[in-house]
Amino acid sequence: MPVELNTKYLDSFISGEDYEKIEPSVSLAHNFLHKKTGLGSEFTGWVTLPTDYDREEFSRIKETARKISANTDIFIVIGIGGSYLGARAVIELINSRNYNTLPKTTPDIYFAGNSISAADLSDLLKICEGRDVSVNVVSKSGTTLEPALAFRVFKRFLEEKYGKEGARKRIFCTTDRQKGKLKRLADEEGYETFVIPEDIGGRYSVLTAVGLLPIAVAGIDIDELMLGARRAQEDLACADLDQNDCYKYAAIRNILHSGKGKSIEILASYEPNFAMMNEWFKQLFGESEGKDGKGIFPASAIFSTDLHSMGQYIQSGTRNIFETIVYFEKPRNDILIETIASDADGLNFLSGKTIAFVNKSAFLGTLAAHAGGGVPNIILTVPEINPFEVGYLIYFFEKACAISSYISDVNPFDQPGVDAYKKNMFALLGN
Ligand code: PA5
Repeated sequence: MPVELNTKYLDSFISGEDYEKIEPSVSLAHNFLHKKTGLGSEFTGWVTLPTDYDREEFSRIKETARKISANTDIFIVIGIGGSYLGARAVIELINSRNYNTLPKTTPDIYFAGNSISAADLSDLLKICEGRDVSVNVVSKSGTTLEPALAFRVFKRFLEEKYGKEGARKRIFCTTDRQKGKLKRLADEEGYETFVIPEDIGGRYSVLTAVGLLPIAVAGIDIDELMLGARRAQEDLACADLDQNDCYKYAAIRNILHSGKGKSIEILASYEPNFAMMNEWFKQLFGESEGKDGKGIFPASAIFSTDLHSMGQYIQSGTRNIFETIVYFEKPRNDILIETIASDADGLNFLSGKTIAFVNKSAFLGTLAAHAGGGVPNIILTVPEINPFEVGYLIYFFEKACAISSYISDVNPFDQPGVDAYKKNMFALLGN
């Protein structure tokens, strides 16, 4: 299977009895999700999305991405939370964080409206000067302050640069089919719109137009992405805990949390390009599980980078951590380590090996050290980074998150806590 769970480094932490005890809760969670009888079941459209997505809109996304690529140097994606993280995560994982500096035929992609930083927005406007720009504003509610503010700024920028008619052809809105201020504005102005299905919440929406349009503009094969997700939908539909790695992962998280006092999960990868996937994961699990005084705190790391910062704490700090490692077996590229006559750096013992081999040794060495130091390690092995595997991985995590939330008896699809800061902020702003 494209994502394989390895439990070897959990054996001293979890027993067969632990799995037996949690099995009924997993079965219940499966039924909640598949029979749409659980909390928030009106937001489970993502479960069958890889097979029943809107084919007509999908073709329009590909066509629009082609048009954008032909007339655009800079593509600005405006959105926050679930309306931005997934697209950025997929683009940066597949195309590499340094991609914008490589020769390519697709526009440079920048993200805006995910903070209220005036400095950040001004910098972005400067980058756009003298270049052809298109904008995709993404907001399901159509009322979120951060993207609405950024869009106000970019709408004006485009209208000044291209005139109202020219700007109209460069603005693309992804929002609710009917409701919200953004939908109203898009209809009034005649912008091309894409739909966020009503039954799919923000953090589960990366495989809708929310993620697909920016991902397609980045030149990534969205057919493959959806095929990978579709394969996951089929593979991970089985109710049997023993046969379903996704459910096993969800079960293990809950066993470690409620039975063994492990309240922090560090999602880690040995690929720096995974950094935004970490952020996407943290939002998915944090907003889904962190409520009613419950939830595992989702943290993240990139190794070996963070072994030189967080490694000390993980190895011997408070023993309330477990790690989930996403390990990609085949690197996109590799580099042979050559012999140097002087051996001034003392690294000739690595001659003939590759950088990827050294990275794998760091992975295996760290696993043994952390597990031996009291940190359970869950390993998710993925063959390589490509659109198919990434589509699979996204679905794997979305489903694991929903199942895990149901096991701990919370609604995976709401986020009542997010409103608290908004109320205070709007009161301070006089609204
Ligand atoms: O997962 C969620 O529902 C949230 O993170 C939203 O995506 C985020 O708050 C943005 O909301 P909207 O798309 O309505 O602007």
